[in-house]
Amino acid sequence: MTSVGIDAVEIHTGKLRLDLAETFAPEMGDAPEKYTKGLGLYASSFPDTYEDIVTMGANAAHRLLKRKGLKPDDIGRIDVATESAFDHSKPVSTYIAGCLEQVFEGDFHHANKGERKFACVAGTQSIDDAYNWIKAGRNRGRAALVIATDTALYARDDPGEATQGAGAVAMLIDEEPNLVELSTEQGYGSADETDFLKPQQQFPSVDGKRSVNVYLARMREALIDYERVGGKIHPDDFRLGPFHTPFPGMVRKAAVLAYRHITRDTEIEEELAEEIGRQPRSEAFDSDEAYLEAISEYTDALKGTDRYQAWYNRTIDPTLTLSRHVGNWYTGSVHVARVSGLKALAEAGEDATGERLLVGSYGSGAQAEIHVETVQENWREEIEALDIDDRLESRYELTFEEYEDVHDAHNYDEESAVEEFTVPESEFAFDGWGRMGERKYRYVE
Ligand code: HMG
Repeated sequence: MTSVGIDAVEIHTGKLRLDLAETFAPEMGDAPEKYTKGLGLYASSFPDTYEDIVTMGANAAHRLLKRKGLKPDDIGRIDVATESAFDHSKPVSTYIAGCLEQVFEGDFHHANKGERKFACVAGTQSIDDAYNWIKAGRNRGRAALVIATDTALYARDDPGEATQGAGAVAMLIDEEPNLVELSTEQGYGSADETDFLKPQQQFPSVDGKRSVNVYLARMREALIDYERVGGKIHPDDFRLGPFHTPFPGMVRKAAVLAYRHITRDTEIEEELAEEIGRQPRSEAFDSDEAYLEAISEYTDALKGTDRYQAWYNRTIDPTLTLSRHVGNWYTGSVHVARVSGLKALAEAGEDATGERLLVGSYGSGAQAEIHVETVQENWREEIEALDIDDRLESRYELTFEEYEDVHDAHNYDEESAVEEFTVPESEFAFDGWGRMGERKYRYVE
């Protein structure tokens, strides 16, 4: 059977940078360590005044198609995943196709375009749609372009303000991919939750602490559901575990719970028993409360073992490096984590061909999805083609006052006359409003 997966990827970061420890924390009256140690974040990316979800997505897609030598006729489908859309009817993918038609010969009239919404999990859902479309044989030899693009802004003074970010990830989904093959097996954890939502409003209403627990509960369900179809997961089966990363501290919490679950009834549990005992079993307790307390004590002890730390440092930590410097990109976040992990392996000179990744996607509201990916032979070439480090390095450093202005500039309810901070060059830029209230874009040479 033909393999289907991610052939290539490009990342576009918002061009402005806010240092959380040095610039943001003092103004909020917080210790810098709340960011660097607690949340695990050093900086957030923000869009300049001429950037938005369309320009970021189009810039990532433009670089991707150019690098792969593709033309519009090679693409049969453009799906955009976003939770920052500005139109209830016309999808962002039409705007992005319009941008790309400014720079490529030909057009995308033959391409099926859409927009996926389910908070941050929509990027992975779009990949799933593309996978199904190709597997069903409806693609006529063409590849799918999936773009996850968001400006993850919170209202000023909302606790979520600490985790903001903005950027886009463009991915080419194709047969016989160069980067990773996707598993047919998937696991889901999905429930009607009201932890994070945007009912007719730009910035989210968030129950932050509860959202953390909902993330953990849905991920657990998805893991169990995956095991029903993919078989029992063993921690050593996977080289990396890229998870949705609203902030690295969230993944730290999820990782230890996942490890506890997948080491239950394994030789690892037995080996650790001498040091921290065996995992509590519910049958041994009179009440749920006593069982949960014992589980929580065991998890704390597990976190402190060398065995767990070694697994975490090898499997999870490399996936968090980029996120520490960009914040939450919502739909793009888990795809940034995948690149971050593979980039670390490439930099270490490791041969990862054939290695497997346990990928955990999540969106508030709420749904988690677990699937497995297998690293393909040409993965290193694809990862080394990225210039994300240079792009992160060349971001404009905001003062706190400038950050306030940028937030206003992207706030639909504020009148703002803020000038741009950087000069657009070889990229798409916002170019004002059209007669029907549409946004217009131009390519700046
Ligand atoms: P908060 O109240 O600002 O922060 O809210 P905190 O007081 O809980 O501190 C954060 C961490 O820093 C804690 O670590 C503190 O202990 C630690 P923890 O105890 O949880 O491990 N800390 C320190 N550490 C060292 N030295 C210090 C220090 N001070 C504090 N001096 C919260 C944090 C995450 C709730 C907030 O930022 C928020 O509401 N964020 C938005 C919601 C969110 O990101 N939720 C995550 C799960 S939901 C999700 O992932 C979906 C999402 O991406 C949306 C979508 O799907 O579309 C958000």
